[in-house]
Amino acid sequence: MNDIKFAIIGCGNIGKRHLAVLDAEPRAEVVAVCDIEEDIAQKYQQLYELPVYYTDFKKLLAESPAEVVCICTPHGLHAEMSIQAAEAGKHILVEKPMALNSADCKRMIAAAKANGVDLFVVKQNRYNKPIALAKQAIMQGKLGQVYMVNCNVLWNRHAGYYKDSNWRGSKALEGGGLYTQVSHFIDLMIWWFGDVLEAKTTLETKMQDIEIEDCGISQIKFASGVLGTLNWTTAVYNKNYEGSITIIGEKGTIKIGGRYLNQIDFWDVQSYPLPENIVFDDKPNAYGKYQGTSSNHDKVVTNVVAKLLNERHDVVEGDEGIKSIEAIELIYRDTYLTQTP
Ligand SMILES: NC(=O)c1ccc[n+]([C@@H]2O[C@H](COP(=O)([O-])OP(=O)(O)OC[C@H]3O[C@@H](n4cnc5c(N)ncnc54)[C@H](O)[C@@H]3O)[C@@H](O)[C@H]2O)c1
Repeated sequence: MNDIKFAIIGCGNIGKRHLAVLDAEPRAEVVAVCDIEEDIAQKYQQLYELPVYYTDFKKLLAESPAEVVCICTPHGLHAEMSIQAAEAGKHILVEKPMALNSADCKRMIAAAKANGVDLFVVKQNRYNKPIALAKQAIMQGKLGQVYMVNCNVLWNRHAGYYKDSNWRGSKALEGGGLYTQVSHFIDLMIWWFGDVLEAKTTLETKMQDIEIEDCGISQIKFASGVLGTLNWTTAVYNKNYEGSITIIGEKGTIKIGGRYLNQIDFWDVQSYPLPENIVFDDKPNAYGKYQGTSSNHDKVVTNVVAKLLNERHDVVEGDEGIKSIEAIELIYRDTYLTQTP
């Protein structure tokens, strides 16, 4: 059987991770990389001994035998690149956030459908061990009625994270912290509790010199009736403090915590104890001076390969990816940003 051929567009922080996991995936082969910065594209072509590199993604789409392209560029480029990839007959694995608005997500879904290709969205936190345990408890009704959920994304991003980037902190290309740091958490809550129906939100930029918020709070109502609170910031002193989701149910309480949803901080569920001897070993993506969420991209890629080989269907596709973007639009709607630094 032939390996599935991949190409990567954007070889920055996360593009590097895609390259590493694809290199380790036995049934995948990377056939090209692309970065608008030639030295970066060339560096990774040489490092992985790839046949070719590109600086123009349209040229890659026209020439490369890649069957799947991983889109690892800034958020604001995801929609157009995905649509052009679909029109070139490529399957797409687009990084989160799928796009910066739901209209673009719809165009991406339509382009994939019209061209008979698959559109996958990276949501690697769904594979974290604590998330899988909590999901099982919720889906089996072990918590009874779920009343409330509290989500905290209390992280640090140093000034250079924004200053040294030509897109982070920009309204047009990053959109806001919900798209970047928080979209994983929103995806999980929607997965468990349904769409976001209502939100009241306050945003402020307290610390950084950026066009988007660095502090936000929102009260949310989910379609299942669950009430939620969401607190997020990139202004925590020195390093990430917490990435957590606490679920308050009729028959149990679960706090998934650690710094990036990597451990169970509290589990008290009627007649359903936390299974013993689980090793919580999800690792973060580490980018030098800061850490992101879990690094389970290997599981994403393995499942994309399995889906393309018609073996199983444990993947997130465009119709699910759009839900967190619709929720983010709603959470940001009717807000204005106070700049106080
Ligand atoms: N799933 C996750 O946990 C996770 C983690 C990190 C980043 N991401 C996502 O990945 C995307 C990229 O983030 P990053 O941190 O790697 O950013 P980055 O700035 O480190 O890397 C982006 C790369 O894209 C390249 N690029 C920009 N425009 C291009 C173009 N027109 N053609 C080709 N290359 C181009 C840049 O030169 C850069 O090398 C973002 O959407 C981000 O949300 C996801």
